[in-house]
Order: sequence, then structure tokens, then C-alpha cells
Amino acid sequence: MYRFILKVYGCQMNVYDGDKLRTALIRNGWQETSEEEADIVIFNGCSIRAKAEHKVWSELGRYGESWSDKKKPFVAVTGCIAQRLGSAMMTRFPWVRLVGGPRHIGDLPEALERVMAGERVSLLDEDSRAFVDLAVPPIERVNPWKAYVTIAHGCDNFCTYCIVPYVRGRFVSRFPEDILVEIRGLVEDGVKEITLLGQNVNSYGQDFKNGYTFSSLLRDVAAIDGLPLIRFVTSHPKDFTPDIVEVMAHHPKICPSINLPIQSGSDRILKKMNRKYTLAKYRETVSVIRNALPEVGLTSDLIVGFPGETEEDFQASVAALHEFRYDLVHTAAYSPREGTAASTMEDQIDQDVKMKRLNTVNAVQSEIALQINRGLVGKRYKILIDDWAPKGESLVQGRTPGDKVVIMEGTEEFIGRFALVSITSAENWCLHGEVISIID
Ligand code: SAH
Ligand code: SF4
Ligand code: F3S
Repeated sequence: MYRFILKVYGCQMNVYDGDKLRTALIRNGWQETSEEEADIVIFNGCSIRAKAEHKVWSELGRYGESWSDKKKPFVAVTGCIAQRLGSAMMTRFPWVRLVGGPRHIGDLPEALERVMAGERVSLLDEDSRAFVDLAVPPIERVNPWKAYVTIAHGCDNFCTYCIVPYVRGRFVSRFPEDILVEIRGLVEDGVKEITLLGQNVNSYGQDFKNGYTFSSLLRDVAAIDGLPLIRFVTSHPKDFTPDIVEVMAHHPKICPSINLPIQSGSDRILKKMNRKYTLAKYRETVSVIRNALPEVGLTSDLIVGFPGETEEDFQASVAALHEFRYDLVHTAAYSPREGTAASTMEDQIDQDVKMKRLNTVNAVQSEIALQINRGLVGKRYKILIDDWAPKGESLVQGRTPGDKVVIMEGTEEFIGRFALVSITSAENWCLHGEVISIID
């Protein structure tokens, strides 16, 4: 029996992959343990920005001493970061015994056995269509009440700043039957909220060419008995069609929450980013969404300091924040990723200008979110209380249908149950509430 720990970084796709890997290892007789006892430490890492990679790089170095002392623990690096930097990591750190990209997740359980038997294993190939799935549902989850389910792998969009198509490979939709069987199994396992995952969930099914689309899948998932909450991320504005919000409007269990990353408010920059929509087209989509779902929680992603971004382009992004009044925006300073088209564009922006712009959009958005959130004080929501709050004693948390974090006083018995919650106060990043009654 081998003992492992699994450290997960990056987006929900890595969390989902991590949950599946944990499930497979435990089914093979492995045991999850503490840092001190581990025979192997598995890093499931992210490559989206330089900062994400630095986190894992700097942690890897830490294992040198115990490795030379006790030849333990072994280290394995998986996920997007492994696909991009795996070979370099293996050369640099002798204690890294396995590197495996996200398209090799299905090979990992067997490969990890070989590692424990003394081999060094590299699972990085050049074929971006190859994909070996891990055929287990994510039963050993980070959270017992919520589960992620990837509905499509990879991405074919090649936004010029983005590493994802290089590390996750080509866009492939999973078959609806497989997804539905997996979700039914999770519901039987006690899951009350499913989040469907994909880099562009709304492009789901385009590769089937048989008319079965994302809205078809949403309708089928909504028909599953015993599943009260359905969410999904992320939606690409270029493929967002009205049938999606029509299905959502008919099925209240599909939460009215949409992440529609704008990335920039300037058409000139959107073109250089290869986003394939204009601000005008984006605006139309937002109005279709808001008309169909008046209570929608609308969130976005925004990059500042993309190569060639002038002050005028930047101000167009600030104006977009004011216009669309998002509930939340994931902001980032542009980080050049080697091998992507934007990394070699002229007019790279100075780091201090990027940081200044980042601070500006964060301040603008924080004020908007605070105003929106204050407007929710006094409202009541049915909320799944899904965990302890990260800080503060006897505080639990959940999310509104529109995906706002709500923190309230509660006990162990509240966790995993639905409650009627009244919102009592607001901050820019969360709401505070009071449990009025436990519903079920
Ligand atoms: N598929 C989603 C987003 C995936 S990546 C979409 O198309 O919107 C998550 C977010 O990371 C992106 O929305 C983008 O805002 C950010 N991001 C990706 N590459 C980046 C880079 N090189 N520098 C800074 N931010 C980046
Ligand atoms: Fe990256 Fe663009 Fe694909 Fe999103 S759509 S994952 S930003 S290439
Ligand atoms: Fe990171 Fe890979 Fe997700 S690069 S953001 S973990 S798809």
C-alpha cells in the first residue's frame, strides 16, 4: 500500500481531474495521507500565467533535502504544467519521478505504481488529439456535496494569449450518455450540486455534428431526478446562443449564473486576441441573457496590458465594466506564455503599466460589486450550505443561485443541507446572511 498526497492548483478542471485520480488511487488500495507520511506527493498544476507556474516550481525545490536523506517522498507532476514544463522539471529535480500531461490522466494509476517500483516515467506526447480518460467518477471529492463534471476536453480557439489549447489539446465533447451516467452516480453518492465544466461549455456538441448541443445536454441533466442544483462554466461569447437561456429560464434548478469572459472592451484588442466577437456583438448577447434571466449573476474575465493595449483601449475596458456591471470579474495582468502568438507580438506593455491598470480595474470593479451586493440586503434565498467558511469560528458558507458567496453562522448539522437565508449585509466579495430555517 502506498500513501500519497495530492496538491491541486488552477481551475476546476484540475480539481475534477484530481478528484478522479484520488478515486482511482484509493480504489487501487492507495491511501491519502499527511505531508510527513507521504510516499509520493502529486502536484496537479496549472500553467495559465507565470505566477501559477512559479508556485509549483518553488514548492518542488523543497523536497530536495528529504529526498537526498531518505529517498522519500517521490514527487509526481501532472496537469497542464506537466505538459508544458515536465521535461525541464525532471531534468532539474531528481526527486520528480513522474510527469504526466492532462491528456494522460487515464495512464496515471498504472504509471504511479511503476514509479513506486523505482521507474521514472514521462507521459508527454506531441499528439494533441490523443486522450486517455480515467474511467472513474469523482467519488473521492474535495467536497462531498458538490461535484464538477467535465463535459468537453481541450480547446480549439487559440486565443493568442492562451496556453490552454497547447496543454489540453483539441476540443472533444464527451458523449452525453457518459456524462449522464456519471452524474446519476454522483447524485446517488449524495451530490446536490453539479457544475458542468469546459473551456467553452456552450460549444459542447459542435463536434458531434448531429444537432445535440449544450442546451440539449442542459435539458437532459435537468431531467435527472434528485439533483437540485446545476451550474456551468465557462461560456465563450462567440458561441452563446439564445436556446441556452431559454432552457435555463424553464428549469429553475439550473442556476441563473453565467460567466461570459469579455477579456477586453476594445474591438482592436479583441481582434488581436482572436476572440472572434466585437463589443457590439457581446453587448447583444448580454441583453439576450438579461432579458431571459432578470436575476442572472453575470461574471467575467478581463486581461489588462495585452500587447499594444493603449490608454484608449484600456479605458474601453474600464467603460465595459461600468456598462455591464458584472457581479464579479476575474482580472489579470497579461502574462506572456511561450509558444503563443501574443508572446512574440511587438509593443509588450511594461510591468508597472500593467500593474497600474490592474489596480484601476480592481478598484472600479470592487466598487460596482459592493453597490450590487448592497442592493441584495434583505433578500431571501434558498441556499445549499456546502462547507465551513474559510475564516471565523462557527461560520458556514453557501452560494446564492446567482453564485454569490454567503457567509452565515451555523453548525456542523447545517452542512450539506438547504436553508432559507436572509441577507443581512454585504461586502464587495461576499454577502453575510442569517439562516431562517433549514429546508431539507
Ligand atoms: N476558456 C475561458 C477561459 C480560460 S483561461 C475563456 O475563453 O474565457 C481563464 C482566464 O485566464 C481567461 O479568461 C483569461 O482571462 C486568463 N488568462 C488566460 N491566459 C492568460 C495570460 N496569458 N495572461 C493573463 N491572463 C490569462
Ligand atoms: Fe484559452 Fe481562448 Fe480557449 Fe478560453 S477559448 S481556453 S481563453 S484559447
Ligand atoms: Fe490552468 Fe490548465 Fe485550468 S492551465 S486554468 S489548470 S486548463
